[in-house]
Amino acid sequence: MDAIRIERLSKTFANGRKALDEINLRVGVGEMVALIGASGSGKSTLLRHIAGFTASDPQPSQIEIFGRPIQQNGRIVREVRRIRLDVGFVFQQFNLVNRLTVQTNVLIGALARLPLWRRVTGCFPRAERERSVAALAEVGIADKAYERAANLSGGQQQRAALARALVQHARLILADEPIASLDPESSRRVMDMLAMLNRNHRLTVVVSLHQVDIAMRYCPRTIALRDGRVVYDGPSAALTPPVLQQLYGSAARELIEPSADPLTPAAPAAAGPFGPQARVA
Ligand SMILES: Nc1ncnc2c1ncn2[C@@H]1O[C@H](COP(=O)(O)OP(=O)(O)OP(=O)(O)O)[C@@H](O)[C@H]1O
Ligand SMILES: [Mg+2]
Repeated sequence: MDAIRIERLSKTFANGRKALDEINLRVGVGEMVALIGASGSGKSTLLRHIAGFTASDPQPSQIEIFGRPIQQNGRIVREVRRIRLDVGFVFQQFNLVNRLTVQTNVLIGALARLPLWRRVTGCFPRAERERSVAALAEVGIADKAYERAANLSGGQQQRAALARALVQHARLILADEPIASLDPESSRRVMDMLAMLNRNHRLTVVVSLHQVDIAMRYCPRTIALRDGRVVYDGPSAALTPPVLQQLYGSAARELIEPSADPLTPAAPAAAGPFGPQARVA
C-alpha cells in the first residue's frame, strides 16, 4: 500500500487554465519527497487535491491516501474528514489560531479524534495535554506552550504546526512551501524537524519548495512540475543545474538560486500581514 496514489489527475479552473495535466504518482509509506517547480507550475493545486480540498476535473481519475480514495472522478468522497485525520498540513501562511495558546493550537490536532462533549467543552484529557507538551518538546519549543501563537516567530509557528500533526497522529504531512516566508536559519530548523518526523515517526512527507538545493539536502526524491505536468520524478541528487536548465529553460534560475548562507545575519523582519510580532526565530 502506498501513502499516496494518484491516477490521471487533471484540473482545469473555471477560467480555462489547465493547472494539472494527467498526473500519475505514487508516494510510498515513509518517503520524504520534494515537490518543485516554478511559480504557477501547479504545486499548491496538486497538494490541495491530495488533501481533498479541491475536486479534480470530472473525468476518470483517482486519488488514494493509504489505500482509501479521497476523491474519484471529480468528486470528493463523503468521508473526507475521516480520511483527512491521517493528514497533517503545513502552509506557507502560518495557520495557527493567533489568540489561542500554542498548546491549545497543538491540541486542536487531537480534536477530531475526541468525543463530541470534549470538543464542545474544550476539556482535553490529561493524556492529550501531556502528549501536546511532549510534541512541542520534540520540535524544540516546549517553552512556548503557554504563549499565544501570535507571539511566536514564523519558524516557531511552523514547528508548532508540526507538533499539531504529531498530536493528531497524522501519518502523512503535506507541507506547501513551509519555509518560503522564513529566514535561512528558521528554514533549516523547520526542514530539520520535518526530516526528524520522517525519520523518527516514519511519517510520509511531501513538501513543496522553491529551491532545489533544499530538496537535495533533505529529500531523497524530487517530483518536478512544469505547467501542471510531471517533468521529472527521481533522485534529487540528479537535478544538477544542466538538468534543470533542460527541464525549465530560463525559468530554471528561479529554482537554482542558492538559499542564503545560514550564517549570515537575517534581515530584520518586515511588519508583514502578521503584524510586528512576526519575527524570525
Ligand atoms: N482558483 C484558481 N482559479 C484559477 N486559476 C488558478 C486557481 N488556483 C490556481 N490557479 C492557476 O493554476 C496554476 C497553478 O497554480 P498553483 O498555485 O498550483 O502554482 P504553484 O506551483 O503553487 O505556484 P507558486 O510557486 O507561486 O506557489 C497557475 O497558473 C494559477 O494561476
Ligand atoms: Mg503554491
